[in-house]
Formats: sequence, C-alpha cells, structure tokens
Amino acid sequence: MSRMLEGVEDRPFIPTEYVVRLARTPWERAGYHALRREVFCHEQKIFAEDDRDAIDEDAIPIIAACCMAGMPDRIVGAVRIHEAEPGLWRGSRLAVHAEHRKLGRIGAELIRMAVSTAHGLGAQRFLAQVQEQNVLFFRRLHWKSLGVVTLHGLPHHDMQADLARYPAHGQDQTWLLRPQPRTRQVA
Ligand SMILES: CC(C)(COP(=O)(O)OP(=O)(O)OC[C@H]1O[C@@H](n2cnc3c(N)ncnc32)[C@H](O)[C@@H]1OP(=O)(O)O)[C@@H](O)C(=O)NCCC(=O)NCCS
Repeated sequence: MSRMLEGVEDRPFIPTEYVVRLARTPWERAGYHALRREVFCHEQKIFAEDDRDAIDEDAIPIIAACCMAGMPDRIVGAVRIHEAEPGLWRGSRLAVHAEHRKLGRIGAELIRMAVSTAHGLGAQRFLAQVQEQNVLFFRRLHWKSLGVVTLHGLPHHDMQADLARYPAHGQDQTWLLRPQPRTRQVA
C-alpha cells in the first residue's frame, strides 16, 4: 500500500463546490447557529455560550454549505440580514469556518448575497458594524467607513455598502462557488 502511494503529493482536501443561499431547512438553520457559536463564542470569545439575540427573531439567515458529491454536507458560512428601520437594512454575524477561509471567496459571496437580497426587499441603505481587522476586506467590496464605534469592547467601523454595486435579486437566488486551485502552505 505504502509503495502505491509513494510520490503522491501530501496535501489537504480542498472542497470543489459551495452553495450560498438563504437558510430554509431545519438542518441548514441548525448548522448556521452551530457555526456562529463556534466562531463568535469559542473562537473570538465575544459571547459566552450563545450569540443569539432579539434580532434573530426577525432576521433572514443566509448560509454557505460545502458540498460533497453535489450535495450540501456541512454549513461553513453564515450571515444574517434584517430591516432595522424602513428602508435601512443591516447585516451581522458574518462568519466563515476557519478551515474554509480565503479559499473560495465564501465571505465575499455571503456579503453579496446579503446586500443584494436586502436590495431586492427594498433596502435604500445597507449598513454593518465591522470588526477593525476586516475593514480593508469590506472596503475592497465597495463599502465605506462612516466612523469608529466600540462594540462588545472591541473597535468596529460603522460601514455602508454601495448599493449600486449590489444589484437587487429575489430570495430564491443561489450562488454556486467553485474555488480555483491555489498553492496552499501546509504547516
Ligand atoms: C472575515 C471573514 C468572514 C472573511 O471570509 P473569507 O471567506 O476568508 O473571505 P474571502 O475568501 O471571501 O476573501 C475575499 C478576498 O479578501 C481577502 N480577505 C479575507 N479576509 C480579509 C481581511 N480580514 N482583510 C483583508 N483582506 C481579506 C481574501 O484574501 C480574498 O482575497 P483574494 O480575492 O485576493 O484572494 C472570515 O475571515 C471570518 O469568518 N472571520 C472570523 C469572523 C469575523 O471576523 N467575522 C466578521 C465580523 S465583522
């Protein structure tokens, strides 16, 4: 067996397909909340055990699922949107599983799905409170900073999306992402 594998490149498994869409099924919603807990409670330690709040009662959940053999297998991306005031929409709880970051533009496509969905629902402004280390990421996606705020004891920027860059679409929209092969550093 070992002779058969001699010379075979030792590299991590890289998924070939992701879907991004609104979360609809109980499985998708459970994975969405599990990922948020993993990122905002365990990784970033912003919340103790549960990051859910009153906004979740009205918010629209959006997910990215990693596919195996064409079928969604695991929820690896999440974001939510809600209408805070008439015409003013907000996005929050953007998270991509650590093993899937900087791989298939999952974060960027979750933002596109969030803003374009809200645009389709009548948003005239779309805002988010963005952690400082992600401000450049949002700027590159056509967002501008409106100023610095402290949230959960951490520096954030109030940021606004340029809606002209996010054409409105309906709630049935699905994006299929196929990461391009890249050289990855294996520790
Ligand atoms: C921020 C986050 C959502 C980005 O998701 P991601 O899937 O890794 O981002 P993408 O792959 O879509 O990135 C698109 C591009 O932006 C770059 N990028 C990603 N994060 C960046 C950052 N923080 N600053 C600058 N550039 C960044 C990527 O390298 C990629 O560049 P490329 O197109 O030249 O290859 C992810 O890192 C995450 O979940 N972090 C932990 C939770 C968090 O911080 N949430 C946001 C709260 S505001």
